[in-house]
Amino acid sequence: MTLQLNVSGRRVAITGAGQGVGRGLALAFAAAGAEVLINDLRGERADSVVEEVLAAGGTASALPFDVTDYQAVTDAFATAGTVDVLVNNAGNAGADGFLTGRRFAATEPVDWEPFLRVNLYGVLHCSRAALPAMVDRGWGRIITIVSDAGRTGDPNSAAYATAKAGAAGFTRSIAVEMGRYGITANNIALGTMRTPLTEPLWSQPDAPQAKAILRNYAIRRPGIADDVTHLAVLLASEHGSWITGQTLPVNGGFSFAL
Ligand SMILES: NC(=O)c1ccc[n+]([C@@H]2O[C@H](COP(=O)([O-])OP(=O)(O)OC[C@H]3O[C@@H](n4cnc5c(N)ncnc54)[C@H](O)[C@@H]3O)[C@@H](O)[C@H]2O)c1
Repeated sequence: MTLQLNVSGRRVAITGAGQGVGRGLALAFAAAGAEVLINDLRGERADSVVEEVLAAGGTASALPFDVTDYQAVTDAFATAGTVDVLVNNAGNAGADGFLTGRRFAATEPVDWEPFLRVNLYGVLHCSRAALPAMVDRGWGRIITIVSDAGRTGDPNSAAYATAKAGAAGFTRSIAVEMGRYGITANNIALGTMRTPLTEPLWSQPDAPQAKAILRNYAIRRPGIADDVTHLAVLLASEHGSWITGQTLPVNGGFSFAL
């Protein structure tokens, strides 16, 4: 018996894959034999990850669009051809910037909107565009990167946590609707990662904020993309075919799934 953690012959679209976790996912899926379609709002970031994948001997192409723009998403999927696996990774308030860190009672709807548009509507848009062809083929995988913020709550980031919790609930609904068509849908809930998004935390002298965060983690280091990538490939592989509707935490023991 051989453990085959590979996804050869699959086409995998990854949103927000121009840096950070998404870039790691693109490299890992390519290393596992998939053809990767690398989305990012920033076309130049997508191009640069395509170059990296090609240099490593993989197969990739750029698929730049804004996940918040439903028409752009629909057009991109219509021209992309087969997508067997969709990884909804694009997240946060927009192209850049970490959480605003403001008490909910001090915010207005205009402050919530970017979080909801990218983290929630972006997931709905891409899933809506990808699912019909998966149903036709009788096979598909949707993997959505959410956050422990949405599982445990997160002070000063209520709109972000709301969007991530909403995306997780969407995944569970789709899992129930789509299981009969050979389609699974799962969430991976991340704790604090060291990516370009959070780099300002880690690169401060002595990193006091980062150290304070890590005191809440059983394993006292931030996550890196490779902590996530193998689980995502597993979920997309044949070995993941009976795992659906789950939210799997990858979080250094910040919180636990019961
Ligand atoms: N970094 C963390 O600590 C952390 C913690 C929990 C969850 N997450 C989640 O993990 C995912 C990846 O995070 P990261 O740290 O790698 O982020 P990142 O900001 O480093 O990279 C995200 C990429 O997504 C792209 N993007 C942003 N908005 C987009 C849009 N509208 N359309 C297309 N692309 C868009 C950005 O251009 C960027 O290249 C996100 O969903 C994030 O919410 C991150």
